[in-house]
Amino acid sequence: MEPRVTCLCPKSNFSSLTNLKKLSLFSPSISHSPLVKSVNMVCLKTNSHITSSPIRGCLVQSSLKKVEHLISEREHSLVKIKRKKLAVFVSGGGSNFRSIHEACINGFVHGEIAVLVTNKGDCGGAVYARENGIQVLQFPSKKGEPDGLSTSDLVTALRNAEIDFVILAGYLKLIPLQLIQAYPRSILNIHPSLLPAFGGKGYYGMKVHKAVIASGARYSGPTIHFVDEHYDTGRILAQSIVPVLATDTAEELAARVLKEEHKLYVDVTAALCEERIVWRDDGVPLIQSKENPNNYC
Ligand code: GRF
Repeated sequence: MEPRVTCLCPKSNFSSLTNLKKLSLFSPSISHSPLVKSVNMVCLKTNSHITSSPIRGCLVQSSLKKVEHLISEREHSLVKIKRKKLAVFVSGGGSNFRSIHEACINGFVHGEIAVLVTNKGDCGGAVYARENGIQVLQFPSKKGEPDGLSTSDLVTALRNAEIDFVILAGYLKLIPLQLIQAYPRSILNIHPSLLPAFGGKGYYGMKVHKAVIASGARYSGPTIHFVDEHYDTGRILAQSIVPVLATDTAEELAARVLKEEHKLYVDVTAALCEERIVWRDDGVPLIQSKENPNNYC
C-alpha cells in the first residue's frame, strides 16, 4: 500500500533529525530501551557545535551513520509492533470515527477500534458502532439514564478493554482530569480550525466556521492536538490548510474542512499506532516521516 503520511504537511515542514534537539519516542515501553537512549544521545551530539574541524566533522558523520543504522533497526522492529487498541469518543454523526474505522479494517491504520464512547446513545456514531459490532459505552452518566458510567468506571472499562489510545472525534464534553492522568500523552482531539485561533469553550460546530468567515481569515483547516484539562489548548500535533473563499457559507467551509479532517485524522492515527510520535524536549510532539525516518513534521 502507498504510504500516505507525506500528506500530513508539506515536505518543507519536515525537519531533519540533525536540526532537532533531544527527542524522545512516544511509547514509554520503547523510550526506556537502550536503542532509544542511544538515539537521544546521538541527537544531542549532532546538535552540538558543528565546526569545520576535520575531527569534529568525522565525529558528526559517524554519529549520523549510527543514527541511520539505529533508525533502520527501528524500521525493522515496526513489523513487530503490537496492533493498538483504540477508544473513539463521539457525540454526533461520527464521520471521522467511520473513516478511522475503515482505515483500521483496510490495514492502513495498525489498530482496532475496540470501544466507542458517547454521551448520546442514539447519535449516528453510536448507531454505526453497534452495526459494526463495536462495544458502546455511555459517558458521562446522566440523571434518569442508568447506563451512563462515572469517570472511575470509564477508566476501569478502558483498562479492561486494554485501550492504548483515546481518539476524540466530535465529542462535546470536557474530558475529566482523572481520564487525562490515566492516559498521559495518549488522548487526541480534532478541532475544525487552525488552533490556537477559533478554539476554546463555545467554539464548536458551525460557530467555529462562522467566526472564521466573519474574521476575514483567508485560510482555515483542522488541527489535531493532544488533550489537556481545558478545551482545545493541548499541544498541537498536526494541521492542514484549506482556503476560505470569498463567497463561502459556514456550511461550505465546514464541508471543505471536514474532508481534510478525514485524511488528517487517519494519517495521524496511523502514525500514533506505528509509534511514530516523538516529543521534542520543549514538549512539542512531532510525527516521524514513514518514508524518511530522519525527517519530522
Ligand atoms: C468535526 O468537525 C470535528 O472537528 C469536531 O466535531 C466534528 C465531528 O464531526 N470536533 P463528525 O462527527 O466526525 O462527522
